[in-house]
Amino acid sequence: MEKKRRDFMGLSLGLFTAAGGVGALYAMKRTWDPLPSVQAAGFSTIDLALAKPNELLVEKWRGKPIFILKKTPEMETHKRDIIVGGERYHVSIGLCTHLGCIPAYKKDTKTFFCACHGGVFDISGIQTPGLPPPSPLEIPPFKIEGTTLVLGEEGPEYLQMKTDGLTV
Ligand code: FES
Repeated sequence: MEKKRRDFMGLSLGLFTAAGGVGALYAMKRTWDPLPSVQAAGFSTIDLALAKPNELLVEKWRGKPIFILKKTPEMETHKRDIIVGGERYHVSIGLCTHLGCIPAYKKDTKTFFCACHGGVFDISGIQTPGLPPPSPLEIPPFKIEGTTLVLGEEGPEYLQMKTDGLTV
């Protein structure tokens, strides 16, 4: 009888401890999960209809500058172009791939110039060989919704570029 009572007490204590452990894990998960407002901040929407040809638009996504440049029909096309409504756009993270400075867009030469160490990127964000930047300006994850670009989501066009190795 005494043994049965001890077994029952042991089982009860075990269940109580397990329930407490699950509760503690759940509480920890709730603490670590990003707040809904933080999750929403991972996305930015940009209306491309606002872009004007050869005028650099700079938006912000996850604290980084995002370059949006609507190409003119005369500008060289590239597989990295984002095509929306028959118009071509260059979209990239506006941080130099050398050491992270923010390049400036030069309308006259139609290039991005990084004053830190003289890096130059063309209208499609491709670096000029022989200068410090080792790679093109990075293309952020994007999804096209009508004339809107949703940054932070990987749409089919972005995934195709990524597969083709064009995003970096
Ligand atoms: S940081 Fe741009 S060239 Fe060095």
